[in-house]
Amino acid sequence: MDIIVTRDLTKEFNGLTAVDGVSFSVKKGEIFGFLGPNGAGKSTTINILTTLLLPTRGTATVNGYDILTQQDDVRRSIGIVSQDVVLENELTARENLILHGEVYGMARREIEERIPRLLKLVELEGREDSRVKTFSGGMKRRLEIVKSFLHKPEIIFMDEPTTGLDPQSRRVVWDHINYLNKEEGVTIFLTTHYMDEADYLCHRIGIMDFGRLLDLDTPENLKNKIGAGDLVDIGFTGDGEAFVREVQEGCGWEVRSHEPGHLRIAANRAELSLMKLVRIAEETGVTIDSLSVREPTLEDVFIHYTGRAIREQAAENVTRAVLRRLR
Ligand SMILES: Nc1ncnc2c1ncn2[C@@H]1O[C@H](COP(=O)(O)OP(=O)(O)OP(=O)(O)O)[C@@H](O)[C@H]1O
Ligand SMILES: [Mg+2]
Repeated sequence: MDIIVTRDLTKEFNGLTAVDGVSFSVKKGEIFGFLGPNGAGKSTTINILTTLLLPTRGTATVNGYDILTQQDDVRRSIGIVSQDVVLENELTARENLILHGEVYGMARREIEERIPRLLKLVELEGREDSRVKTFSGGMKRRLEIVKSFLHKPEIIFMDEPTTGLDPQSRRVVWDHINYLNKEEGVTIFLTTHYMDEADYLCHRIGIMDFGRLLDLDTPENLKNKIGAGDLVDIGFTGDGEAFVREVQEGCGWEVRSHEPGHLRIAANRAELSLMKLVRIAEETGVTIDSLSVREPTLEDVFIHYTGRAIREQAAENVTRAVLRRLR
């Protein structure tokens, strides 16, 4: 069953198309992720689906409810973990949860009953009466996650749930997300610009860039689509022309990229052919300086679709406005 369905979802801000005709669906029980760099349109999509923003065009249903005409029903069905921390710093963990529950119309007793279990879930037991301002970033995130789950929503939207956390805290947050999904049956829609996070957590991933959905599939299928097998990176010294030709023609390997001194090829079971590679280097007068064999990552998938790495963001932010105007 599809718990989220969007059709041609589009959002324009003063001529800038932040979300550009996006259509997809999320299955009930899934951890679904949007992977994309800064400004890709991830938060804007979440804001539309959570009824915080109206789309310029297009429609969507969330838990079967229309985001334009059944906003109250949508809101009751969902929990939200925003990109920025949304907690009352001067209030304690318990008070934050009570405040949230009351906003959702829960009875005070029901909230109080749920608090100990929820705080235990995210290892914050014993801290219920501490003010949130004394919490670390990771503790705040964990509190936000259980807060979003307090009113037992069907779906939780999490906008970059681990951005800014250290690796260990990220792991802990991942465990909690998995727990909510597996044990509590909550559908999770998350956004991230971390490849490893998308790979580890998500059942399916939508790759987003400049407001467009470039592909949507399981992490495995996404990686397989760009060519089965391993990626081999070769650093070398010497005139590479004959070397590259031989590697391509002689071994039938697929050359992915070729710059002076560097060659990337895709090969099935590359380890079996490394001796051959060394021989070709010798025969064509090239010295191999470095060699690495690895499985493709989602970063390779992103590069395949966009021609650049997801982390190349500084330059991108500058060119973004220009590119949008040219389109
Ligand atoms: N309220 C707004 N008014 C004008 N432009 C906006 C507004 N909100 C977002 N944008 C623009 O829309 C584009 C998409 O922004 P969005 O916040 O959805 O990206 P994102 O994928 O969440 O990025 P990040 O990873 O940085 O959070 C950006 O170019 C942004 O500047
Ligand atoms: Mg965002």
